Amino acid sequence: MIVSGDPLPVERNLHRKVLLGVSGSIAAFKAAALVRDLVKAGAEVQVVMTRAAHDFVTPLTLATLSGRPVLTELISGEGTWNDHVHLARWADVMLIAPLSANTLSKMAHGQCDNLLIACYLSAVCPVYVAPAMDLEMYRDASTHTNLELLKARNVQQIGPERGELASGLNGEGRMSEPDAIVNRLHADLVGSSKLNGKRMLISAGGTQEAIDPVRYIGNRSSGKMGFALADEAARRGALVELVSGPTAMRTTTPGIARTDVVSAEQMAEACKTLAVSSDVVIMSAAVADFRPKNVATSKIKKKDAALHIELEPTEDILATLGANKAAGRLLVGFALETNDAEAHAQGKLERKNADLIVLNSLADAGAGFGHDTNKVTLIGKGTKPVHLPLMTKSETARAILDHIETLL
Ligand code: CTP
Repeated sequence: MIVSGDPLPVERNLHRKVLLGVSGSIAAFKAAALVRDLVKAGAEVQVVMTRAAHDFVTPLTLATLSGRPVLTELISGEGTWNDHVHLARWADVMLIAPLSANTLSKMAHGQCDNLLIACYLSAVCPVYVAPAMDLEMYRDASTHTNLELLKARNVQQIGPERGELASGLNGEGRMSEPDAIVNRLHADLVGSSKLNGKRMLISAGGTQEAIDPVRYIGNRSSGKMGFALADEAARRGALVELVSGPTAMRTTTPGIARTDVVSAEQMAEACKTLAVSSDVVIMSAAVADFRPKNVATSKIKKKDAALHIELEPTEDILATLGANKAAGRLLVGFALETNDAEAHAQGKLERKNADLIVLNSLADAGAGFGHDTNKVTLIGKGTKPVHLPLMTKSETARAILDHIETLL
């Protein structure tokens, strides 16, 4: 059933977590190709099946293709609760394909007797359905009414298509083809962004400069802002390379390639290599400006009254990237200033040949290192500074990327 090597008409940039509900219809055989196409497009897929769907496609097939165990029951095995609330909150989008008449009816009337419906009722993300029914079932007044009820609740419908049906009849009711479904999700969720398909390099977190094998010079950067930017860029279809200093943070959007580094030197190497093929570079990392000139090979003992560590400057990565910037590429830097902030940021913009500087505020409560919120000003070339309000770092990431889109 699965043909290897056939070209897909979608880019690999549907970086979304898809909760795929498969209900009992002969079209469930297409769920295998659908899972494969979603995964190939860059999505993470969690399959939830109804019991009836098992008659048409095996859970093993869908688990193998999605790389995740398939779930069916609210309570499975030895009393294991499959947490529908968590599953529904995990998802960026829920897709029910195929949607049978029975599952449609349960959705329309909130009849919650299986995991798929429990997930649907718990979903806070956009929900799509791809109905699949035979001719008269699809034409039936109850089907029409139920689909209208879902539409009124903002559930998006894909298909069905006209054609030959399982019964041998010809007409409306065929589930849309998997690539058409993936294309629709892609167009709705990603397609309109100017970052769609763009290669982006984002640096995040702080660097650590070794003093001896035990100690280092570091800074308070948490990496939250850079990770929020990486997640949002990937959501918009960008092909994101994230270069991160040491942090416990994890990205939440699929499809982000990550390089972990420790020192400014390692960050410079990674960024310079990856920048060559990047359309947009955002240097949000707090790179150390200085590092110990000599790193002690064994732990420094505290026998002396004082310790003097000689420091030497690190490479200014943003400046290097600015000096070598190819035409049409966009370079964004961050700045943290304590006095004459906008003038200093403007100077940094010109000195480092950046296109935009995101000026961080330390003065405002809730902004800066470690917080979940931030308040920034966008300093561009020949334009007035754009003052953004105090927002969550995710909202700030959206606003920064909205602005970057206007520059592309
Ligand atoms: N940066 C960099 N490489 C460094 C230091 C900083 O690429 N070695 C980048 C940061 O990622 C950020 C921008 O430069 O995007 C601003 O860094 P900042 O330390 O605020 O400014 P500096 O240029 O170092 O100037 P100053 O210390 O005088 O404020």
